[in-house]
Amino acid sequence: MLQQRTGSVRSIDIAAEMGYSKPTISIAMRRLRENGYVEYDEHKDIKLTDRGREVAERIYERHLVLTEVLKSLGVDENEAVKEACKIEHDISADSFNKIKEFYNNMKDAMGTGNPGLQGLINRRSVRKYKPQQVDDATLEAVLEVGKYAPTAKGTQSPLMLVLQNPEDIAEVSRLNASVAGSSGDPFYGAPTVVTVFADRDNPNGIQDASLVMGNLMNAAYFAGLGSCWINRAKEVFESPEGRELKKKWGLDDKWIGVGHCILGYADEEPVAKPRKDRYVIKID
Ligand SMILES: Cc1cc2nc3c(=O)[nH]c(=O)nc-3n(C[C@H](O)[C@H](O)[C@H](O)COP(=O)(O)O)c2cc1C
Repeated sequence: MLQQRTGSVRSIDIAAEMGYSKPTISIAMRRLRENGYVEYDEHKDIKLTDRGREVAERIYERHLVLTEVLKSLGVDENEAVKEACKIEHDISADSFNKIKEFYNNMKDAMGTGNPGLQGLINRRSVRKYKPQQVDDATLEAVLEVGKYAPTAKGTQSPLMLVLQNPEDIAEVSRLNASVAGSSGDPFYGAPTVVTVFADRDNPNGIQDASLVMGNLMNAAYFAGLGSCWINRAKEVFESPEGRELKKKWGLDDKWIGVGHCILGYADEEPVAKPRKDRYVIKID
């Protein structure tokens, strides 16, 4: 943290930061160096070794989690930071991991307290659908949200192709499966497939189309539908048969397939995997 803030770190910076005398810090640094946790570079700045960084990151994670737990229990922020500083060095790895797991489970169970944000967290990819077709009004609403995805420079560059005819879907599914080298249905029997295309001539075409995909999947969740991004749309619509289909449906060759968003009424309730550690790096 100190290194991120000041660029370089010397004993005097650590002494000032921690409120200890310079000789005390010098002795501590000597010990840390002897044990392989820090080293000095050519400018005599103190640098963490890989081993030192590993320990520092572990302690820092403990600091953040313990502070958050104490704050959530109603402890004043300054007090929570001070207490976390004391606990983080003494608590065993096992106890810390159990506190962290308990806290994360509790947070998941309580939700964020904001239904909109919680909906974005609860959306899952659905791979099992009821045969019933999506009703028109719901589909229109989802597509409308797709149209309002942000686009670079506001160009509204993407295009959405909606398929609901089982034969059309089966044809694209077959092309997609052949790209994947499989014989199954990559669309999992979903009754509606929206393929989002990017404009080849637009430098942000792929980014724009990806955001439309995101809007469609999130809108589907809020509208009571299941959805999933299915890959290989690019290869499907670059194949000779895919190009023929594009032509038949009035799309010229500038349109690059970015993703198929399958839609339907979910026939399963998938559960999210726990989020990885270090998803977020916050610079103070
Ligand atoms: C770019 C992209 C491509 C994906 N392609 C497929 C796919 O071809 N087939 C599939 O079943 N899921 C596909 N998915 C869905 C992911 O597997 C899914 O998002 C991931 O497992 C996380 O699950 P969640 O969406 O429920 O959070 C894709 C997702 C993204 C973002």
